[in-house]
Amino acid sequence: MTSTGIRLHAPAPGWNIAADVVVVGSGVAGLTTALRCEAAGLRTVVVTKARLDDGSTRWAQGGIAAALGEGDTPEQHLDDTLVAGAGLCDEEAVRILVTEGPDAVRRLIATGAHFDESEAGDLELTREGGHHRRRIAHAGGDATGAEISRALVEAVRARGLRTIENALVLDLLTDADGRTAGVTLHVMGEGQHDGVGAVHAPAVVLATGGMGQVFSATTNPSVSTGDGVALALRAGAEVSDLEFVQFHPTVLFLGPDAEGQQPLVSEAVRGEGAHLVDADGVRFMAGRHELAELAPRDIVAKGIMRRMQEQDAEHMFLDARHFGADMWENRFPTILAACRAHGIDPVHEPIPIAPAAHYASGGVRTDDHGRTTVPGLYACGEVACTGVHGANRLASNSLLEGLVYAERIAADIGASQVANGLHARVPAPFEHPEKPAHPLLAPEARFAIQRTMSRGAGVLRSAGSLATAADALQRLHSDARDALDENGKTAEPGVDTWEATNLLCVARVLVAAARLRQETRGCHWREDHAERDDTAWRRHIVVRLNPDRTLAVHTTDTADFPPTRQYRQPHQEQ
Ligand code: SIN
Repeated sequence: MTSTGIRLHAPAPGWNIAADVVVVGSGVAGLTTALRCEAAGLRTVVVTKARLDDGSTRWAQGGIAAALGEGDTPEQHLDDTLVAGAGLCDEEAVRILVTEGPDAVRRLIATGAHFDESEAGDLELTREGGHHRRRIAHAGGDATGAEISRALVEAVRARGLRTIENALVLDLLTDADGRTAGVTLHVMGEGQHDGVGAVHAPAVVLATGGMGQVFSATTNPSVSTGDGVALALRAGAEVSDLEFVQFHPTVLFLGPDAEGQQPLVSEAVRGEGAHLVDADGVRFMAGRHELAELAPRDIVAKGIMRRMQEQDAEHMFLDARHFGADMWENRFPTILAACRAHGIDPVHEPIPIAPAAHYASGGVRTDDHGRTTVPGLYACGEVACTGVHGANRLASNSLLEGLVYAERIAADIGASQVANGLHARVPAPFEHPEKPAHPLLAPEARFAIQRTMSRGAGVLRSAGSLATAADALQRLHSDARDALDENGKTAEPGVDTWEATNLLCVARVLVAAARLRQETRGCHWREDHAERDDTAWRRHIVVRLNPDRTLAVHTTDTADFPPTRQYRQPHQEQ
């Protein structure tokens, strides 16, 4: 194990807490892990960046995919997932997802989540892109994430779990042997736990969600700034597949300069029969794929972008006028309200839509138990790269991944801590004397990064656009590094500067991987390499951060992913 041991420039911790496990993030992955750890008797602390229900999960509309319907099987769900993943899924990881998924959903229901049911009391299932069957369970029509979040937050409160809100995680603490010893974090609170502090624990679970804020327009909330991936890189962990950013095809178009979180128009709207049409009312997806509007998401996003290019248009339209007012009001109340809030009435007019950044298919590389390459550090949910999504996540597989792998992680932590007497041990963090600080970016850099990424590394990429993006990012990086190395100067530590610094870190890795992958596959679209190249590129791009803050990039064969299927944890030393 090599520990890069770079840390963000930050004040020393002014307060300390001890636990058996600290879970960072409060979406479906984080809260499920926390509930299962607590049930296993582990002292569990949940740390979350805003309020408990402010993460990405709350915004999920379509639902959660699992083979729960009559006649459906995990094998069929596996097939659809592998097709969407475009040759880069880890089949074993997918098999775990689809076989353990149905029971994980039943346990979520037992925890208190209410899904929509038919009059006969069966789960109502819908379809989304890439699924050959109706297998998406949903809640409140199009408010699935909000219902899951409500149920899990209530369970966490009922169980009396210790939670720390408004807390930005900064860095991993390690002991003298490079094992996880907790995290440092900054809390915007009052009283006892305010400012920079530390939670000491031998196991840390990153469930920090995505990095959509690295682009100007995204469906992700403002907290999705890649903090978990950046922390993992600084801690010496490997990240993989970061070039595969999924752009959701149908995001409400609010103008060419719209920035930040944009309203999603769920794929389930197409699942229930809405059509994509151009400005002339022509259905342009028919004939491009056997599933037309319900082709895998990357194909639909590309179809929309192509038509926009052909027509020199800023957006396309989603036409669901034929649903009528009742169906809109009952099945898609959230989307109806969002459209109306922006002056569009989908009952009477087509909805203007365009693709926007939605989901990171890659992330911190893990094995089948959520273990990263750093002992004691786990990753779960969007921040992780379990191998389930490959080059393109199948719609509504992400909530399921969060559930299934959370349970595996909790089981692994419980087993290892009890077996090895780590339970109740407070690890002693070790400050490596040479541990370099990472220079900080000024808060305004966030917007420069977002524009750079949207222009150069968005839906359409080329060698030229990516080189321009890489140069701009390198300038930001070098300026901050030189100011620190030569003059000891860095931007004032604070939430905005730490977030901007994390965004730059993940943007650099994403662009480096996208430049290297000279082919078009899944949601990575190179205009200068339009074809999929299975001879050269049925491989994963894996990145680590060197101690001098440069990137160490290598590729691995799909068969080596994860390399040994099991990262060795400290308790398993042989
Ligand atoms: C949607 O409802 O279209 C989003 C579902 C997902 O991203 O899995």
